[in-house]
Amino acid sequence: MTAQLIDGIALSKTLRAEVATRAAALAARGHKPGLAVVLVGDNPASEVYVRNKVKACEDNGIHSSYDRYPATLSEAELLARIDELNRDPQIHGILVQLPLPPHIDSHKVIEAIAPEKDVDGFHIANAGALLTGKPLFRPCTPYGVMKMFEAHGIELKGANAVVIGRSNIVGKPMALLLLEAGATVTICHSKTRDLAAHTRAADVIVAATGRRNIVTADMVKPGAVVIDVGMNRDEAGKLCGDVDFAAVRDVAGFITPVPGGVGPMTITMLLVNTIEAAERMAASAEAKRV
Ligand code: GUN
Repeated sequence: MTAQLIDGIALSKTLRAEVATRAAALAARGHKPGLAVVLVGDNPASEVYVRNKVKACEDNGIHSSYDRYPATLSEAELLARIDELNRDPQIHGILVQLPLPPHIDSHKVIEAIAPEKDVDGFHIANAGALLTGKPLFRPCTPYGVMKMFEAHGIELKGANAVVIGRSNIVGKPMALLLLEAGATVTICHSKTRDLAAHTRAADVIVAATGRRNIVTADMVKPGAVVIDVGMNRDEAGKLCGDVDFAAVRDVAGFITPVPGGVGPMTITMLLVNTIEAAERMAASAEAKRV
C-alpha cells in the first residue's frame, strides 16, 4: 500500500484564502487585523520561521510589526515592549518566537502577553482553557494537525492515538486536542520504555521529537495515519522530519511529508488565530460604541 499524502501546502492555500476574506471584511469595518512578531537573538531557524510568518501576514491582508532584538536584550526591556504591544489597539496578536536566550525566563515572557492577544495559545490562561475544554486559542501546530484530520475525513472518535513528544508547544496540546476529539491518547517521550509497542497499536501517530527516523516502517500498523511534526536535517543538509518517510509511506494509510506537511499549517493557523483575535476585539469595540 502507498499512503495518501496529506498536503499541507494545498490545505493552507484554501484556509489562507478564507483568512484573506475575513481580513478584508474586518478592514472594511475599520479593524485591520494586526500581528506583532518579536524575535530576540540570531537563531537562524527562528529567523526563517519569523520571516515566513511576517510574509504570510502581508500576503493575506494582516498588518504585521516585526521587532528584531539582539541576544543581549534584557528581560525587563522585552517585558516593557510586550506591555506596549498589549496596549496597542492596532495589534490583535502577539507572538514572541521561542526559544529565547537563556537569560530570559520564557515563562515570565509568555505570562506577560495579554491572554486575548496570545495567538500562540501558550499563556497559562489559554493552556488551562484548552485543558478544561473551552479553548480561546488552540496552539498553532496541533491546531493545524487537527485541520488536516478534518480535511481528510479521518475519524478520531475511539481511535488509538500516540503522540511522541511532550513539549508545551506541540506534544501536550496535541494530546489534549486528540482527547477532546474522542481519541484514546498515549503520550510517549524520551523515557518511554518500548516506543514501538505503543506505535504498533496506534491508528494515529503524531511524531514531534526533533529526532530523525524516530518512527520507522516496522513501528507502524498498516493503514495508520502518520503525522510528522519534525524539522531536522539529514547528512546532506536536506530538510527531513522525524519519520522515515520513504519506508513508512509504503505501510501507512495517510502520511504528511516534510517539507510541505505540517510546517505551512502552523503558519496558517497563526493567521487564523490572529483573525479570530481581531474579530473578537472588533465585536467588543463595536458593542462599546453602541
Ligand atoms: N518556536 C517553535 N515553534 C513555535 C511556535 O509555534 N510559536 C512560537 N512563539 N515559537 C515557536
